[in-house]
Amino acid sequence: MLKISVRKGKLYEAKNEAVILPLFEGREKLVLNAREIDKKTGGLISEIIASRDFEAKPFQVSVIYTRGLLPAKRVALVGLGNPEEFDLEKMRGAYAMVMQKLRAINVRQAATAIDFNDIHGSKDMLIRATLEGAVSGLYQYLPFRTVDRQNIKEVKELAVITQSGDYTLVKAEAQKARVIMEAVYFTRDIVSAPANEMTPSILARKARELARRRNITCKVLDKAQMKKIGMNALLGVAAGSCEAPKFIILEYKGKRKSEKPLVLVGKGLTFDTGGISIKPSEKMDEMKTDMAGGAAVMGAIMAAADLRLELNIVGLIPATENMPGGSALKPGDILKSHSGKTIEIINTDAEGRLILADALSFAVRYKPAAIIDVATLTGACVIALGDDVTGMLGTDNNLKREIAEAGQIAGELVWELPLWDMYSEQIKSDIADYKNTGGRAAGAITAAAFLEKFTGNYPWVHLDIAGPAFSTKDKPYIPKGASGIPLRLLVEFLSGRAGVKSK
Ligand code: BES
Ligand code: MN
Ligand code: ZN
Repeated sequence: MLKISVRKGKLYEAKNEAVILPLFEGREKLVLNAREIDKKTGGLISEIIASRDFEAKPFQVSVIYTRGLLPAKRVALVGLGNPEEFDLEKMRGAYAMVMQKLRAINVRQAATAIDFNDIHGSKDMLIRATLEGAVSGLYQYLPFRTVDRQNIKEVKELAVITQSGDYTLVKAEAQKARVIMEAVYFTRDIVSAPANEMTPSILARKARELARRRNITCKVLDKAQMKKIGMNALLGVAAGSCEAPKFIILEYKGKRKSEKPLVLVGKGLTFDTGGISIKPSEKMDEMKTDMAGGAAVMGAIMAAADLRLELNIVGLIPATENMPGGSALKPGDILKSHSGKTIEIINTDAEGRLILADALSFAVRYKPAAIIDVATLTGACVIALGDDVTGMLGTDNNLKREIAEAGQIAGELVWELPLWDMYSEQIKSDIADYKNTGGRAAGAITAAAFLEKFTGNYPWVHLDIAGPAFSTKDKPYIPKGASGIPLRLLVEFLSGRAGVKSK
């Protein structure tokens, strides 16, 4: 990951390969760092603006060469767009784009400064958005590239230059950004890994590695232990696979034991073929990402521990493959879940809700303050909200509001879908308590209605990330592939619960 350093000084004095200068569109005059650099370079910046080669449109980048007028060889200008339309997403996108451009021209280290007096927003959020954007945009998944590895380009370091008065604040926020982005990279690496390299056993090993951190413990239930406590919905999904299922339990203790924990449940489906109700082969490869919810939960706990958040968190990740085979679950089968409730299987491809049902009812033993589950659960949610937005459904209005706000701050948007009682009609079974699909209508909602039956009436929210977890196209600060969503939302939410407010 990009190394972030913070030092006091002046941007025009930086001896880096490039200095990055963010600029607003349509400004009459250059101010602060831009003005200083313009002066030192005999008007290079005003010239490129006057000629309209660079207009500071959102994410526009121009690199100019200083030819000895500054210690830095280049000035990289990046547009923030119209100041009236500025928000943190613009900042994230701008820094991602300028870092990608610098990488493309082989720059290995750069410096930047943030003119707090010119850019609206709280200082702490501006620094974090800047660094999150820079690091996020540079993500590459490379472990399987063997040809021409020496030609892989990488920016190694970004220095943030700050005035003495802001130094302590900038350093603290830079450290937070580092911790959060380490966790985002961790999550993206897990989601990007092919299913043969990210089996339930390997996922469980990743979880155990997290437990090397202070205040994190990890327990992993194997098949026999799951059988003993009646996790037959999870075991049903695992029945067709040769890979052993794992039930991963991560506990982070940042507060006294008596404090009720928040329980995060993440779908850990390491490959979803659909099972006997098999999926079409086109794009089936993308189903290696069906553990994105579990990966984000693991990443969120990692970040919470590194941020030393004062609260208790439990992470539950039911992990298995969903495969067809001689011993696989069949349509029409009935399973008795961990909760004791029975489920008629209509479609073996609706497996996420089965493994989550057992995890949610297991969560009840913690008497949690709240339960949040995260899952690539339904194609229907992608049809409803598109590729960029997380579907939110749940039973607790305060919890929903907190999560929507955290998503707004993080730039990881959620939109609520209704969970009225009538939707439960669609998942009534003729011969068991429930059936695992409710037909095509309102598919994202009936999936959530099913999950609700297993939450034991604790405050609960379900996040359907089938759309944004993985992208087949580049987004401003998320390169195509695994996004890490909703990890930053979760960290923002957890920080709020721990009393650390982002202003
Ligand atoms: N993992 C899929 C959902 C999914 C679809 C995630 C597209 C990411 C992108 C889930 O297990 C699934 O197959 N859901 C079915 C449910 C249906 C059978 C009721 C679906 O959405 O088609
Ligand atoms: Mn499925
Ligand atoms: Zn699935």
